[in-house]
Amino acid sequence: MAVTIAQLQKWKQQQRRITVLTAWDYAIAQILDEAGSDVILVGDSLAMTALGHQTTLPLSLEAMLHHAAAVKRGVKRALVVCDLPFLTYQESSQQAIQSAGRVLKETGVQAVKLEGGNDAIAQTVATLTRIGIPVMGHIGLTPQSVHHLGYRQQGTTSETAKQIYQEALNLSEAGAFSIVLEHIPSDLAHEITANIPIPTIGIGAGKYCDGQVLVTADLLGLTPKQPPFAKPYTNLRDIITTATQNYIADVKNQNFPP
Ligand code: KIV
Ligand code: NA
Repeated sequence: MAVTIAQLQKWKQQQRRITVLTAWDYAIAQILDEAGSDVILVGDSLAMTALGHQTTLPLSLEAMLHHAAAVKRGVKRALVVCDLPFLTYQESSQQAIQSAGRVLKETGVQAVKLEGGNDAIAQTVATLTRIGIPVMGHIGLTPQSVHHLGYRQQGTTSETAKQIYQEALNLSEAGAFSIVLEHIPSDLAHEITANIPIPTIGIGAGKYCDGQVLVTADLLGLTPKQPPFAKPYTNLRDIITTATQNYIADVKNQNFPP
């Protein structure tokens, strides 16, 4: 059965952990979906993992639409969520409606994700939710603010921890259906998870979140430089390198074609 937002809420209540992985094209999305990932996120990390940029900032809405449509075509069961790229929603609620509207209408994904939890962002989340566009929040380390925050752990002082906790409440009250908690202390993520009704999805936020997300390029060992909280489950870089070298050798030695 296809995963719905209502199902995610139920899983939180049942303490059945929610699994989320990122995807950037049809082939990867199809494999992750058939393997059983509950949610597939077309994360703007694809700017780095698939497009070779240094940060997520250069990604355009057009490029995101192209990737999200390909991902969605590969998915039958998982709920598909698409990041809104940098500066396609921060300007105003109107801009967010235009961008999120295009994402849903032109790609078929079921929800969008955006970063931040201050009053302006919460207002935007409320507006999108009210018109029927489900929104996943994302707080803590928000990579679209890299020039401001760096890639450091967030919420390490009592003041910033309090601020992140407040942002979680803001987003939950604004109608977000779930929130990604990135690179914050485990006890803070635990406290947020226990005190909001919607599922939290952690990445570098400890084991007490309702679900976990990993960048699939990190899971597969495709990225040479991984964040400290990532766990490679295989080394596709080595596997692809060996396969490529074997092919080259076979062609040169006239062992392929037979
Ligand atoms: O873009 C991305 O991959 C993300 C996840 C790390 C949550 O936002
Ligand atoms: Na992202």
